[in-house]
Amino acid sequence: MTDDLERVRDDVLAAISAADSLAGLEAVRVAELGRKGRITGLMKTLAGLSPDERREKGAALNRLRDQVAAALEARRESLARAELETRLRSERVDITLPHRPQPDGRIHPISQTMDELIDIFGEMGFSVAEGPDIEDDWHNFEALNIPAEHPARQEMDTFYLRERPDGSRPVLRTHTSPVQIRTMEKMQPPIRIIAPGRTYRSDHDATHSPMFHQVEGLLIDESTHMGHLKGCLIEFCRAFFEVSDLPVRFRPSHFPFTEPSAEVDIGCSREGGTLKIGSGGDWLEILGCGMVHPKVLANCGIDPTRYQGFAFGMGIERIAMLKYGIPDLRTMYDSDLRWLRHYGFAALDVPGLTGGLAR
Ligand code: DAH
Repeated sequence: MTDDLERVRDDVLAAISAADSLAGLEAVRVAELGRKGRITGLMKTLAGLSPDERREKGAALNRLRDQVAAALEARRESLARAELETRLRSERVDITLPHRPQPDGRIHPISQTMDELIDIFGEMGFSVAEGPDIEDDWHNFEALNIPAEHPARQEMDTFYLRERPDGSRPVLRTHTSPVQIRTMEKMQPPIRIIAPGRTYRSDHDATHSPMFHQVEGLLIDESTHMGHLKGCLIEFCRAFFEVSDLPVRFRPSHFPFTEPSAEVDIGCSREGGTLKIGSGGDWLEILGCGMVHPKVLANCGIDPTRYQGFAFGMGIERIAMLKYGIPDLRTMYDSDLRWLRHYGFAALDVPGLTGGLAR
């Protein structure tokens, strides 16, 4: 290669390695190999040379052109790789960053209260049982010692469904007590369950809704007595209302499926027209309970001479309204978002006895 070609080569290779962007490199390519480029121009001078000169200079120019093209390509590759790396670095997402969800929805006070009930009774060893909303006469009434002519049937304002071909009439369950029957029919003692769920009565005014919720409790074994019933429910009331010295009173009552039966009142005060749960001389009824009637045990195939236990049932709306100061039952079912934002609970605040039930 002649001296001036060598100079051209050194010059071009220096420009190529100095190019610091793909655009800059392209400018070098155009300046050398483009239609009006320097090396292209040199190629054109070959035409005016003698055949010998042309062969020699032509070969040298071809070599130069190939060398420059290879250098351009190598530089282009390394610049492209560097540009990609810069881009990847700037667009990097740190997947190890903690997720901070901001959920928009709220948990309804009824669901919240059910979760709290499950948590409290869960700690005491109760598991959750379920039964159907549409019940038959046997589970809703008969097996619970409520025969056809019993006055309790009228008190319940039952919703009857259309008669079945066999003449039976299903009902919308009027209480969660049929889940006691279904549980005892399925399993032998020891039994320790609660059954939260929907219940229905044909009743609609300021303090009654045709659909409402109850929670049932049932504990059966060989030695459980009224003292255990009292201890369990006193403990529950104090944990649920978060008042450690809450007065709890057991008042004799009557239910067909328990003997003896009681209603449970908690202490409150109504001073100055505001209701406050705690000691204050007044009482509020919150649940029914009793020792499971021997006939009910026998109806489910459980030997009443060997097994005994207690049951209880309470309205979920009522205890939720008392605990959270909700004045009107009907607002519970209005699906009013403003109401839910006010009375609802954050979705990720799962109630727990250790962290506090209501947050
Ligand atoms: N089933 C009753 C009702 O709906 C509530 C009840 C009372 C349930 C006493 C029980 C119980 O298990 O022992 O009014």
